[in-house]
Amino acid sequence: MTQSLTIRRPDDWHLHLRDGAMLAAVLPETARHFARALVMPNLVPPVVTTAQARAYRTRILAALPAGSAFRPLMTLYLTEDTDPADVARGAEQGLIHALKLYPAGATTNSASGVTDFDRIRPVLDRMAEIGLPLCVHGEVTDPDVDIFDREAVFIERILEPMRRATPGLRVVMEHVTTAEGVAYAKGGGPSLAATITAHHLVINRNHILAGGLHPHYYCLPVAKREEHRRALVAAATSGAARFFLGTDSAPHPDQAKLNPCGCAGCFTATNALSILADVFERENALQSLEAFASLNGAAFYGLEANAQTVTLTRRQPAWPRRIETGDGPLTVFDPGFALNWSVSN
Ligand code: DOR
Ligand code: ZN
Repeated sequence: MTQSLTIRRPDDWHLHLRDGAMLAAVLPETARHFARALVMPNLVPPVVTTAQARAYRTRILAALPAGSAFRPLMTLYLTEDTDPADVARGAEQGLIHALKLYPAGATTNSASGVTDFDRIRPVLDRMAEIGLPLCVHGEVTDPDVDIFDREAVFIERILEPMRRATPGLRVVMEHVTTAEGVAYAKGGGPSLAATITAHHLVINRNHILAGGLHPHYYCLPVAKREEHRRALVAAATSGAARFFLGTDSAPHPDQAKLNPCGCAGCFTATNALSILADVFERENALQSLEAFASLNGAAFYGLEANAQTVTLTRRQPAWPRRIETGDGPLTVFDPGFALNWSVSN
């Protein structure tokens, strides 16, 4: 039985760091294990220009623990008014690594997102030209579409037509949650990839809804049936190049989660790697963990894999149930089973 595993230091290709007091509280949790993270731009107000992304990056660097080599990789929030020239400049300067597409109203702080997809065509054309990836929150917002079907319907109604209209556009389907999402990502050719979260690998919709309502398991896209979770596990543990880790670690203070209209998001930065090690071990796929967490994402984004490593050791990790933040207590995602792997640098 493997007792320890050393892999290249992982990157998180989908992370919410927020700002201010919450940023200060959650950043060390990611910086402890990850070398880099693609930082989501859904602040209030959102990060829509290169200048705003540069200022946000400065605030993140200022909040880092002393001596940390963690690197935030910045994104812009795509709106119908996004200026293609600003995007191209930000990419050229090495500051902007992707644009994030939120359909308006799809999730937390998505009010400035896109309603008319024709209006973003010029930006998408420019991105295709310069090879800048588009990260997509792939859910339709049509109230007539059942929330459990919104990812599959998005692929058909929005994603496939958009990719056909902008050949060469590099797309990352963020946090896929369905067998349909996995199948589409697999069949999409080298310009298409998908991120998978740690929490969607371990929960299905029963975890949210059966035996009482469990708000800390509520996120968007919402976890689906068990057969979909199985499809995600198969994709992640396959080691296939087009699937990689994006935790979508999304902190909301308990007061915002435990609420008549609770926020969507699971905070997994603290224990995501330990959770992954258990998931991969159960599938006899520990040998593919490095591809999923440390290699495939960097390759898709055109970056070198990290030179540093982390070591996973078969020992139950200690992790706090809650983290204190300036915005109140924040509950750490509980996978619902004992974790077996500790991470050390
Ligand atoms: O659960 C989620 N939380 N899904 C998202 O898409 C956004 C995120 C957040 O920012 O809280
Ligand atoms: Zn997210």
